[in-house]
Amino acid sequence: MHYFVTTTPASTQQSDCVIVAVFDQGQLSPSAKIINDQSNGYLEKVIARGDIEGKAGQTLLLQDVENITSPRVLLVGCGKQDKTTEKDFNSAISAITKVLNDSGADTASSYLSEINVKDRSATWKTRQTIITAESALYKYTATKSDVKAVNKPLTQLGFFDQDGDTQSATELGQAIATGMNLARELSNLPGNVCTPTYLANQAVELGQRFESVTTTILDEAEMETLGMSSLLSVSRGSREEAKLIVMNYQGAGDDRPVVLVGKGLTFDAGGISLKPASGMDEMKYDMCGSASVFGTISAIAELNLPINVVGVVPSSENMPDGDANKPGDIVTSMAGKTIEILNTDAEGRLILCDALTYSERFNPEVVIDIATLTGAVIVALGHQTTGLMANDQDLADALLKAGNDSHDRAWQLPIWDDYQPQLDSNFADIANIGGKGAGSITAACFLSRFTENFTWAHLDIAGTAWVSGKDKGATGRPVPLLVQFLLNHIETKK
Ligand code: BES
Ligand code: MN
Ligand code: ZN
Repeated sequence: MHYFVTTTPASTQQSDCVIVAVFDQGQLSPSAKIINDQSNGYLEKVIARGDIEGKAGQTLLLQDVENITSPRVLLVGCGKQDKTTEKDFNSAISAITKVLNDSGADTASSYLSEINVKDRSATWKTRQTIITAESALYKYTATKSDVKAVNKPLTQLGFFDQDGDTQSATELGQAIATGMNLARELSNLPGNVCTPTYLANQAVELGQRFESVTTTILDEAEMETLGMSSLLSVSRGSREEAKLIVMNYQGAGDDRPVVLVGKGLTFDAGGISLKPASGMDEMKYDMCGSASVFGTISAIAELNLPINVVGVVPSSENMPDGDANKPGDIVTSMAGKTIEILNTDAEGRLILCDALTYSERFNPEVVIDIATLTGAVIVALGHQTTGLMANDQDLADALLKAGNDSHDRAWQLPIWDDYQPQLDSNFADIANIGGKGAGSITAACFLSRFTENFTWAHLDIAGTAWVSGKDKGATGRPVPLLVQFLLNHIETKK
């Protein structure tokens, strides 16, 4: 989709369709009022008839409204006037995108930037419109044979410009949306296509697409030399070779980088501690953390952001096999700490700990890992909110703020010392599970043992990276949060 900026009022706009808002008591947005006045009260008449009430996401497509230059007017419900929530706004955008993408309209102009969404700026609304529209348009087709093209797709969407900053908001929105779609696509691919080697090839491709990105791939022999026995122990039960993928984005000379470590478990069967059969297909999504790193690097490279970011992706499968990890096995991590593997299904932390240790060589300003790490985070926060844990409160606060700014929100859980004894082992320096209670916290506590030398935060995205059920698919989260964090980080350093 192409996005453009327009300063033409709704009544004289030359698009195939103009989009204006209606609120839940039948009130009209400013541009809707103009159209209503020009057409001698037509919108009020239609609303009085009861065809649209203004509930968030309701739509009504009108044709040939009198005295209006555009042939179509799309009314969309935006909830309570002056109290439209981000959720209402997203439902409205999603709805108009779906309606227009299947109508005769080729171009449309949105006047929704003029409505009040909490205290969001017009540029936020522009950016969010693009992100939400692209999400609504995303369709997975890679492994389907009977793909029908949309009959009459919407190809251009314009934004009514009110405060002059719409162009950069448009570019930002597009870069984030493209990054999210890359994350979605990698995540949705099945485990037999999206293997560690496939991810490594994708990283090489990203390096070829952007001059600012340099990719390095480490194979198992190189990881062996580095002493990454914890990571390699997870991969031993798999026929697919593990990869350590490093994507280096250089946008700010020799500044210390932000390192993003993404869990790239391309299929998690649980290993010898095998998972139950039901829903196991969804464990192809156990690489969504790495997908968000790919998406974020694609977005910042497209935007040429003045910052250095290193993406580190430990990638492996976790399978049952004669050579797989067994409960009770003890491995030595790259950091030298021995780990008793009491549950082979707690494999994420086993590959992440070595990747975190590896990150130290970049002299990072901060390290953030992103991982579908625990089912327990879904119990704690559901599918709405990402779990956040950190060894530094300023970094935690910056990530919470980035989540609020981008409306891709996280919530912090504590990793106080009090939890650490749950990881005690009789036979090794640390156990890989923390027993009953606080499963997400003890997982983060495990990681914290490998991040003592730097500022670190952990995002547990097990609940937010994909949705199950009829609309099963990856969400592209937390790409918006991560890009926002990097944008804010650049601002605070100015
Ligand atoms: N990839 C899973 C976490 C997960 C589970 C994500 C369900 C999304 C939905 C992770 O490797 C795992 O299996 N974690 C275990 C840890 C447990 C064995 C301590 C879990 O959460 O059950
Ligand atoms: Mn697991
Ligand atoms: Zn896993």
